[in-house]
Parts: sequence; structure tokens; C-alpha cells
Amino acid sequence: MPIMEPPVAEEVVTRSPAVFTQAPEVRAETSSKNGSSNSVKVSSRDLDLFYGTKQALSKISLDIVERRVTALIGPSGCGKSTYLRTLNRMNDLIPGVRIAGRVEIDGIDIYQRGLDVVELRKRIGMVFQKSNPFPKSIWENVAYGPKVLGERQKARLHEIVETSLQKAAIWEEVKDRLHHSAFGLSGGQQQRLCIARALAVEPDVLLMDEPASALDPISTAKIEELIFNLKKNYTIIIVTHNMQQAARVSDTTAFFYMGELIEVGDTRDIFTNPVKKQTEDYVTGRFG
Ligand SMILES: Nc1ncnc2c1ncn2[C@@H]1O[C@H](COP(=O)(O)OP(=O)(O)OP(=O)(O)O)[C@@H](O)[C@H]1O
Ligand SMILES: [Mg+2]
Repeated sequence: MPIMEPPVAEEVVTRSPAVFTQAPEVRAETSSKNGSSNSVKVSSRDLDLFYGTKQALSKISLDIVERRVTALIGPSGCGKSTYLRTLNRMNDLIPGVRIAGRVEIDGIDIYQRGLDVVELRKRIGMVFQKSNPFPKSIWENVAYGPKVLGERQKARLHEIVETSLQKAAIWEEVKDRLHHSAFGLSGGQQQRLCIARALAVEPDVLLMDEPASALDPISTAKIEELIFNLKKNYTIIIVTHNMQQAARVSDTTAFFYMGELIEVGDTRDIFTNPVKKQTEDYVTGRFG
């Protein structure tokens, strides 16, 4: 898997020599007290992002709480996908991107020099708007990540494939055709397969960029139910244009507008009692 260094970003973010390491003990401690915790899993501070000279994000400071669903909403072009990609350094792959500010996962600066980006992307999985299965069998799609990370035992791989498909609520639909092409699945099934593929490498955080926007209402309901169930074990950040969906699945909602974070709060407050007029105009469909 090629690892590309981020263009320019090195000069502007704070560096420390530590490498990115997992902190499972810390997470176990914070989440075991009453089953729900308020610990911050992902945080950005004064995050700016430029595509060449064009600024797409301005001073985004946002804390994302562990094992909750956070929805990012806002009009097209406001920077939701860009922000999501900064959280697992997917923007590193885009030429001319420059980032300033700080992003931390479990308190670790993910833009520090020497950080293992493959390990980061293993922990911060991503699901895209358009399902993108590999041109391989269902089984191979899910086993792909663990294989790349070195798992060789067939029995262990099969166990991972089955558990991941179960977690993604698609096992029953595919268990009899695991070795058939993933392209033979419906759009909604392909999207759940992609979620299974993301889960197979055991991430902590799932980034979902409009994961249900191309799906029919039944498939959408399945994805929403899945998100609801997954948040017991994962921190989920979802971009959506569907206000009802944001209201149904998320605990926290962040409203972006023209590259800025306008308001963030409990989803109920954002939809019923927002502080900012821009937020109110957007959630009530009066935006113009
Ligand atoms: N690869 C890129 N190169 C240059 N500019 C980009 C690139 N990707 C996004 N942009 C610009 O950055 C801004 C934010 O785009 P982004 O895709 O993050 O918006 P978004 O909120 O996800 O929109 P949508 O709801 O339409 O998906 C836009 O002005 C967009 O044109
Ligand atoms: Mg987008």
C-alpha cells in the first residue's frame, strides 16, 4: 500500500517525535464505568485546509465524543467531505493540499512527522457515498484488509469475514454466495459490504460520507439501523444531506457553512432550538 507524505503540511503543524500507538487501556477505562462515556475520541483545533490557494476549511475546532454518532450537515461545497478526510489523512493523497492546525485521535497528533498512516487508516475506517467494492468475491472484499495487514490463516480470515458481515447486517443475505462477485449485490447490499470491509480491520472510528444517499428507503433504513447498533462499539461521523436522517441517527450535529463550523450541539437542540440564525435557516429549509 503506497504511503504518500502530505504535501507542505509538515511545516505548519506541531510535531512531536512520538509514533501513533493504540491506547486500548485508556479507552477501556473511560468506557467501562457506566457503558457510556463522554471522552473525546477525535478533536480538531484551528484546522485550516487549502486546495492550492483556495481555502476550504477555516479554523475548525470540534470535539467528537467516543461511541456517539456525530452528523456533519451543511450545503453543498461547505467542506463536510474535506473535513471528514482530514481525520484519516485522506487529503494527503490530493496534490496541492495544505493543512494548518491540529487533529488528534486519542490525544495523538495525527499529522506528526513519522506517523504510520497505514495504522491510522486501519483505526479510522471510511465508507463513501458510492459503494466501491473491489472487483473480487464478497469473501475477498472483506478479507482484503486483514490480508494486507498480514493475516494468513484461512480459518482466522474466514472468522473475520463472517463476523464483519454479521456486524454489517448482511451475513444472512450473502452467506450462501460468499465466493460470488461483489458486483452481483444490490446497491444497498454493496454499501453494507463496504461497511463490513471497513469493519474487518477493527477500526475505532468510522467515517461515513453520505453512505445512504444513493439508496432506496428500505436500504437506507437498514443502514440507519446498522449505524445505531454500531455506535455501541464505534465512534461514527456521518455526513448527510438528509435532515431527517441526521435527526434519527445522530447524537451530536455540527453545521458547516462556507468552510466554517457555525454551530455544534446535541442533535435535538440543533434541530429544535439552534443558537445561530444560519443554522435555523438551514435545518428548516429556508436557506437561500
Ligand atoms: N480535490 C479538490 N481540489 C480542489 N478543490 C476541492 C477539492 N475537493 C473539494 N474542493 C473544494 O472544496 C470545497 C469543499 O468541498 P467538499 O467536497 O468538502 O464539500 P462538501 O460539503 O462535502 O459538499 P457536498 O455536499 O456537495 O458533497 C468546495 O469549494 C470544493 O470545490
Ligand atoms: Mg461531500
